[in-house]
Amino acid sequence: MIQIEQIDFRFTWPIRHEVMYPEHNLDFVKLKNDAEGIHFALYFNHKLIGIVSIFNEGAVYQFRKLAVLQEAQGLGLGKKLMEHVIEYCQIQKASKLWCNARANVKEFYFRLGFKETEKTFFKDGYDFIIMELDL
Ligand SMILES: CC(C)(COP(=O)(O)OP(=O)(O)OC[C@H]1O[C@@H](n2cnc3c(N)ncnc32)[C@H](O)[C@@H]1OP(=O)(O)O)[C@@H](O)C(=O)NCCC(=O)NCCS
Repeated sequence: MIQIEQIDFRFTWPIRHEVMYPEHNLDFVKLKNDAEGIHFALYFNHKLIGIVSIFNEGAVYQFRKLAVLQEAQGLGLGKKLMEHVIEYCQIQKASKLWCNARANVKEFYFRLGFKETEKTFFKDGYDFIIMELDL
């Protein structure tokens, strides 16, 4: 059973930390504008297993810190969460959704229709590619 709900930004921090940056402390995963974002959680059989955060400037939306607990990866849940984000952005009449994608997961975003841009960078030990989806 899958449920997706908006949550307070503070509930995203433990999964961000565990899945994305376990080698850092919890403060490392807190974003300075977290309070301005929209945050979604995916519950699988009533357990919080996935999170993602959305920020916008006008009609341009960015999602950040998508993470699914390792034990639940590969079950289609990250895709479900992203489909929810895309639908949410369409309802807001967003023109574009973009992200700083970790290069090792770009295939996941291709499957959702995102296109790779030429903008790449290296940060915090990871290679990133800016990817975007026209809505
Ligand atoms: C990336 C992540 C969110 C994907 O979530 P997930 O629930 O494991 O992915 P899904 O099971 O929904 O996969 C959907 C599709 O993408 C593919 N996919 C998922 N991760 C992939 C990867 N790393 N490389 C290539 N394909 C991948 C799946 O095979 C599946 O393909 P299909 O639709 O043809 O069956 C998750 O693996 C994760 O949290 N990773 C660690 C944190 C991270 O990298 N976050 C993203 C930062 S930009």
